[in-house]
Amino acid sequence: MLEHDVIIVGGGLAGCRAALEIKKLNPSADVALVAKTHPIRSHSVAAQGGIAASLQNVDRDDDWKAHAFDTVKGSDYLADQDAVEFLTKEAPEVIIELEHLGVLFSRLEDGKIAQRAFGGHSHKRTCYAADKTGHAMLHELVNNLRRNHVKIYEEWYVMELILEDSPLINPPQPPFVRGEIEKPLVRGEIEKPFVREEMEKPTKEAKGVVMFNIHDGHLQVVRSKAVMFATGGYGRVFNTTSNDYASSGDGLAMTAKAGLPLEDMEFVQFHPTGLYPVGVLISEAVRGEGAYLRNSEGERFMARYAPNQMELAPRDITSRAIVTEIRAGRGINADGSAGGVYVHLDLTHMGKEKIMSRVPFCWEEAHRLVGVDAIYEPMPVRPTAHYCMGGIPVNTDGRVRMNGNKLTEGFFAGGECACVSVHGANRLGSNSLLECVVYGRRVGRSIANYILDRTMPEIDEEKYLQANEKRIQDLLNQEGDTRINSLRQNFQDAMTEHCGVFRTEEVMTEGLKQIRQLIAKYGQIFLDDKQRQWNTELVEALELQNIIIVGEMILTSAIHRQESRGAHSREDYPTRDDRNFLQHTLASYSPEGVTVEYMPVVVTMFEPKERKY
Ligand code: FUM
Repeated sequence: MLEHDVIIVGGGLAGCRAALEIKKLNPSADVALVAKTHPIRSHSVAAQGGIAASLQNVDRDDDWKAHAFDTVKGSDYLADQDAVEFLTKEAPEVIIELEHLGVLFSRLEDGKIAQRAFGGHSHKRTCYAADKTGHAMLHELVNNLRRNHVKIYEEWYVMELILEDSPLINPPQPPFVRGEIEKPLVRGEIEKPFVREEMEKPTKEAKGVVMFNIHDGHLQVVRSKAVMFATGGYGRVFNTTSNDYASSGDGLAMTAKAGLPLEDMEFVQFHPTGLYPVGVLISEAVRGEGAYLRNSEGERFMARYAPNQMELAPRDITSRAIVTEIRAGRGINADGSAGGVYVHLDLTHMGKEKIMSRVPFCWEEAHRLVGVDAIYEPMPVRPTAHYCMGGIPVNTDGRVRMNGNKLTEGFFAGGECACVSVHGANRLGSNSLLECVVYGRRVGRSIANYILDRTMPEIDEEKYLQANEKRIQDLLNQEGDTRINSLRQNFQDAMTEHCGVFRTEEVMTEGLKQIRQLIAKYGQIFLDDKQRQWNTELVEALELQNIIIVGEMILTSAIHRQESRGAHSREDYPTRDDRNFLQHTLASYSPEGVTVEYMPVVVTMFEPKERKY
């Protein structure tokens, strides 16, 4: 059996940053990182517009508190404010660290790191490398991993988290003692009381993972003193997404299958400007640099929805505005007539020099993928599934929660797959790269300490190998008539139609019914490729099971949240309901269905108010 002090699953920014921090604090720690692609192909590489930090290079009156306020207001007050405080206070320092690691940020005339405007931010605080910021950051972090002797397992697919009952009883961790609440709020009737018996029960302990070598098809158990998931998001749950093909929610589904809850899964971010029809990201940086959104009448319609912030309103508001325009018949068709399914993103007034120096990649995407030269004509855009605000519940040291009251042992998570929660019900653009590096670093520190007095766990290797071998063989031998592509397409269509920008109980319940019918079809999948070596069809079948589990958790959590907050917009419950739902959802999976309970939000600095932009 392989063993490492730490195994990190996921090769994106959060995992790489955590690995580096552990090696920095303890160079002799044996740290391994496993990824199903080469780490440089992780989805972080596709991040475009930038990373927020109150460096004050452009706006002298910015500070961490203003950044924190914007983040909490943007989250529709669902973010945990102690976690937001860490995020925004540590932001300037992590940017300077990145620069020292070698990241090439764009510059101002005076040589300082450039900063641009972004949606929902009250100051120009988004640092960037043109519109390829994730690319610039990830390449340097991966280089630094190699320099620091982190063992990399690339093109290995992790199939199972080994999580077993633990003899350890860890101290209680009620979320509501994490910060000093200046003005205690009414917590609502559905708050789950703090349960002492539950605190005193033993917890669960992560001991390692089971992974599948995509090249030669063999299985391997890895044991470790700490496991970190940094597996990214789940955009592939939907049929139109800015995410790469690998964003199939693997870490989320493995955590849920291991019996742990997932937090706030109903909050799916639809980025307003997905290039139509492909759905790839056209960065918010384009609007940050001055582009306009226009409907079929040529009108800058954001004046109706966010008169002060206009195109730089937060994403939930901008996406709803676009869908509302389309529903009202002011969307655009290919021949320019009204009644179509997209709106225009107009850069034509910005000029070639600005477009090509600030957002060259977005220009190239539109040119290459839909034949639009954005210097002279507008781009067709509409909302696209982009980001997962919820995820694996963690405390501010990245330790995964068992439930509202307890932590697990040996299990950590960071980045998009984790919910700490700094984004609440709606993330502000350029706060996700920031979360990856601030919390990647924090989780790395916490793991470095954690492994100091932890012994290598015992694992029944044979049991895990046999169970996972059977899972693979069953899939390869299955006699069915369902193709992966059609099942996945039907599932993605059902999710997109029934759990989009606007939602109702009736539509979502119908979606859940359809998804349950599709789940029954998973047992009838037929694989053409029966080989073990480089069998991408087999990997896709495993991923499909994960996106289906994640989809069911999103829908069930969304049906239970009977209010509108941030990205969760219920036409049957159009207002925010702090009395009952200023709470985090904790959803638990079982093959029979998903159950839901709630956990209080941490409010330390800003009392919830109505959001106006
Ligand atoms: O629009 C963008 O460049 C995306 C940034 C983000 O999601 O933070």
